[in-house]
This record gives sequence, C-alpha cells and structure tokens, in this order.
Amino acid sequence: MQDASPLTAILESVLKESMGLNISSMGTSVIKHAINRRMRTLGIDNTFQYLQKIKASVVELHELIDEVAVNETWFFRDEAPFLALGEYAAGFTRHNKGQVLRLLSIPCSSGEEPYSMAITLLEAGLPAAGFVIDAVDISRQSLNRAREGVYRGHSFRSPLAQRYQRYFTKTRQGYALDPAVKALVRFHRGNLIHLNRTLASAAYQVIFCRNLLIYLDASFHQQAINTFENLLAADGLLFVGHAEAGIFSGSRFVQAPYPKAFAFHKRGQTPPLAQAPADPGAGGQEVQPRGPSAGFVESERRDLELERHEELLRQNGPSAELFLKLAAIFETKRDWGSAIKMLKKAIYLDPNSIEAVDMLAAIYQRLGDEKNYQACLNRGRRIVNRMTASMPAEEA
Ligand SMILES: C[S@@+](CC[C@H](N)C(=O)[O-])C[C@H]1O[C@@H](n2cnc3c(N)ncnc32)[C@H](O)[C@@H]1O
Repeated sequence: MQDASPLTAILESVLKESMGLNISSMGTSVIKHAINRRMRTLGIDNTFQYLQKIKASVVELHELIDEVAVNETWFFRDEAPFLALGEYAAGFTRHNKGQVLRLLSIPCSSGEEPYSMAITLLEAGLPAAGFVIDAVDISRQSLNRAREGVYRGHSFRSPLAQRYQRYFTKTRQGYALDPAVKALVRFHRGNLIHLNRTLASAAYQVIFCRNLLIYLDASFHQQAINTFENLLAADGLLFVGHAEAGIFSGSRFVQAPYPKAFAFHKRGQTPPLAQAPADPGAGGQEVQPRGPSAGFVESERRDLELERHEELLRQNGPSAELFLKLAAIFETKRDWGSAIKMLKKAIYLDPNSIEAVDMLAAIYQRLGDEKNYQACLNRGRRIVNRMTASMPAEEA
C-alpha cells in the first residue's frame, strides 16, 4: 500500500474537525493503522481514493471515527465517583421529594458507565421511576454493544463490579444485564463538540464525562466546559477522569469535596456534599441507602476482606488481579504507602493493567507527587496506544 503523508495529515484534520480528536494524544501511527484497516475493508489501495470516499460519504466518516475511537471502559471504573454518586443521589432524593434526578453519561462507550450509574442509584434506594439516565457516544459500534447489554469478564475488573454480579445472568454470549436495569438508560448517538444539538435543554443534576477530554484537542476544551455549564443544573455535579481535572483550573467550576471522585460543581453554588441528612423523624418516605455508600467503607469488613485476600495470596501465589484488590483495600484505609506497593506489584505482573496505572496516578495526584503522577499518565497513554494499535478491525 502506498504511503501518502500529506493525505494522511488531511484525514487527521478531518478527524480533528469532526470529533475534536487531538492526534498527538493517540499518535499518528495509530491513526494510520485505522485508516489502513478501513482501506483494506473497502478494497481501496491508495490514500487519495480513500480521502475522496470520506469527503463523499458521511457513513464512511462514521466508520473511520468508530475505528479510531478508544472505547476502553469497564463497570464501576475508578469506584470513587460511584460512591460519591450514591451519596449525592440519596441526599438529593431526601431534599427534593418527588423530583426526578436527571443524569448524563458522555461518552458512554459500550454502556458500562451509565449502567453502573443505574445500579448505584438502585443500590442507594432510588426507585426506578426516580431517575432518568441519558447516555451519549459518537461511536455507533459502541452504542450497539451498549444497547445489547451483554459483557465479557474484562468489563468486571473492578472489585465493586464483582459485588454486583447479581444484576447479570451468565449466557453463552457473555454476562447479560438484567433487562429491568437496561431499560433505565436511554442511548443516543451524539458528539460532545456539538452536544447542544443532540439533547433537550433540561438540565442534568449529574454529568459523567470521563476519559474523553484527554483525547480532545485543547482548542475544544473551553467549548466543552461551556457545554457542561449549559447542561448542568445549579446544584449539579460533574465527574471527569483523574487526568482531566486540570482542564478545569481557572474555569467557573470548582472541585467538590468528594475525595478521589474528581467531581466539580459550579462556582458559587453550595457543594452538594453539604446537603445535610434529613431528620429521620420528619416524616415522608425516607430513602434508606443500602448501596456502595452505606457500609462500603466499614473498616471491619475491609479488614476481613484484607485477610481473605492475603490468605488467597499465600495459597495461590501472586497475581495482578489480587494485588489490585489489595491496593483497593489499602486505598480505602488511606494507607497510601501499602496501596502504592501493591499497585507496583500489579503492574510488574501485568504491564498492561490500565486500572492499576489509573489508581496509581490518582494516588500520586492526591499526594501531590506531580512527577510520579505525570509518569503514570504517560504510562497510561502508552498502554492505551498499544491496545488501540493491536485491536483487530472488527473489534473495538
Ligand atoms: C475511553 S472511552 C470512555 C468511556 C467511559 N466514559 C469511561 O470513562 O470508562 C472514550 C469514548 O469516547 C467516545 N468519543 C470520542 N470522541 C467523542 C466525541 N467527540 N463525542 C462523544 N463521544 C466521543 C469514543 O467513542 C469512546 O467510546
């Protein structure tokens, strides 16, 4: 196949304009691989012809976007945002009786994030009619998988996800999500950089926009922040990825006091955490939180879990998965030194463990260790690049 760098550069600028992509966040070679895969699929053997095709066909542009998109996601990714969501939702319901909580997940990828939000709310005691979740992504392939709601083991790599296995049924195709939970999320195809055109204007109390801004060209960051300002309710919370929090410095958003959740609220608004618990004697239907926020941090249960995992370690020998679980326990006990040690061991055993690198980055950031934090971010990017480069054309 001929290589035509200037033409590839034009295709890169098409991707930048159409999906806001920052080419250097992925690297030109990843983009070139994606273009080559599309050309092979179409039987086109020169880049000029492919460029003509893209210009003539929106369908092909969408195919290329699907090919380039990094869809990596999993249930209860990072955990802390979901613990914060459970607390916020229980507080919101206590203080706004009868009001429906509106939530948005963008980008939702293959659905693990918005479905985790739904499970969190159910576990926090909200009735199904008490909330509405919109989920948006640019990738049609991802949305199809999300609507299908059938998942493989790697979607359950977070310890919290494993706790909620009861919402899934094992089938020959994978783990199928309970249809009642599936029905709680409305999926839409949409583009963050044109979002206002996609969604109705009613405000959302909660927006999850995690692990997209890092792939966006910096010229779209302000536009995205403006969109969140328009879409977020006055007392709402915006959750972003840990590598994305810096984008909001100097903006009209300030960090909410939910440790490790990377949550923001509008400047000048009362932090949602400050919502005092309702007086249980005040009447009305009291919501009983029974989910991740209730009891999840109980130190006794943590200690027992720690013992159980250490026993497993003695019996079965080391594994990245086990070290990750131990790190998560030390993290909740705020024993940062031990958590870091466990994460380093997990990464040694599985150098592609994006979750371990993610957690390590979050700890270093929390400790104000900028050098190690940046090193983790770079390592994370390299893993994502490797994963994207090795993806077969038909599988994201
Ligand atoms: C790494 S996933 C993040 C999924 C989830 N939020 C999480 O954190 O696990 C990134 C997703 O962004 C989507 N995406 C990329 N550009 C987009 C855009 N301009 N608008 C909406 N979604 C986009 C991709 O299709 C992909 O599914």
